Amino acid sequence: MDNNPKSVRNPVQHLNEHADFITSQPDAGEADKRHKKGGKKGEEQKSPLIYDPKYILQVRDLKKHFPIKDGMLGRVSGYVKAVDGVTFNLERGKTMGLVGESGCGKTTTGRTILRLSGDKTAGDVLFNGQEVYDLTNKEMHDMRTKMQIIFQDPFSSLSPRMPVGEIIGEAVREHNLVSKAEYNDYLDDIMDKCGLQPFHKDRYPHEFSGGQRQRICIARALALNPEFIVCDEPVSALDVSIQAQIINLLKDLQEQMNLTYLFISHDLSVVEHISDAVGVMYLGNLVEYGNTEDIFKNPLHPYTKALFSAIPIPDPNVKMKRIVLSGSIPSPANPPEGCKFHTRCAQCMEKCKTEAPQQKEIEPGHYVVCHLYDDVKEAFGVE
Ligand SMILES: Nc1ncnc2c1ncn2[C@@H]1O[C@H](COP(=O)(O)OP(=O)(O)OP(=O)(O)O)[C@@H](O)[C@H]1O
Ligand code: SF4
Ligand SMILES: [Mg+2]
Repeated sequence: MDNNPKSVRNPVQHLNEHADFITSQPDAGEADKRHKKGGKKGEEQKSPLIYDPKYILQVRDLKKHFPIKDGMLGRVSGYVKAVDGVTFNLERGKTMGLVGESGCGKTTTGRTILRLSGDKTAGDVLFNGQEVYDLTNKEMHDMRTKMQIIFQDPFSSLSPRMPVGEIIGEAVREHNLVSKAEYNDYLDDIMDKCGLQPFHKDRYPHEFSGGQRQRICIARALALNPEFIVCDEPVSALDVSIQAQIINLLKDLQEQMNLTYLFISHDLSVVEHISDAVGVMYLGNLVEYGNTEDIFKNPLHPYTKALFSAIPIPDPNVKMKRIVLSGSIPSPANPPEGCKFHTRCAQCMEKCKTEAPQQKEIEPGHYVVCHLYDDVKEAFGVE
């Protein structure tokens, strides 16, 4: 670990200048107060999040806590803090990769952004400047065409009793996106874009391979002409050779249709290949964020370093230095005090056990949340 990180600007100053990414570590007391006050209504008054047209998505301090219910009476005995203060902005037409161990809150982040998990616990989600959670049900229904999701398991997300043409076209008809006269050509065009043939329309999902099924899922999402897609482990269930085809398809479609992706994956090589920016999640928080190249070339957070040390190096002369994390990921229902990673961090210091670290911009656009960088004070460019 490099304990002498390069210079960093005053964090307060750059929060205002670079709103691209701000993480805030959770404040358990604050969250609890909010629960007691009754969720949304009891939320603290914050200054409104200002829309920046450069970003299709602006997420600020997003939290999603699931109640834990006990016994016959279903009394709430605690909360699973699945997402516990996530902040980032996503540029139009770009891809942000989201990585982290199983259970760290990646899927919940994606679903909460799309308002697919009931109410949020706290935070802001601006999509094209519109707070998603302020929309009425009718407005949200209309908004769904713009925000789509592709799941990991293409089979379970496709109705086995519907022919593929119906699956892809159902929502197109529901939302009246094209006239009856144009409908068939429209479907053929979308299917063609996704590498499917017109005769596939009359077949059923079980008649397709895994890769083809994922193409059907992509076509179903694209048929609504979305602007933003959460891709939740879209290739994890596929053979390696098919994975590349689907990734390339997603990239081509992004270019053709100016799509923006939030790309959730365990596979760091895939994330490196497809993403413009990468966020690393641990126990409900982003601990590091930056441009893909910066993050992969120069990971800063001890957790990111450990995670990335497992990436195979395709050079037999280079020895891998694998960092094995001790212990398992703590429960998001009872996260550790201070830095949530302190129970597993080889560089843990005394203050890490009690004080939550603040986010800092270590090089332009590269942010980390770790006390190792607390004393870095100089401005950029000063050696
Ligand atoms: N509906 C729910 N009710 C209660 N707890 C939930 C619910 N959904 C998710 N969780 C919990 O929230 C935490 C985060 O789950 P999530 O599915 O977001 O993780 P993930 O990072 O996507 O994991 P994976 O990589 O395994 O898909 C987990 O502890 C999970 O058990
Ligand atoms: S804040 Fe402390 S415990 Fe947390 S990652 Fe940094 S060094 Fe490790
Ligand atoms: Mg998941």
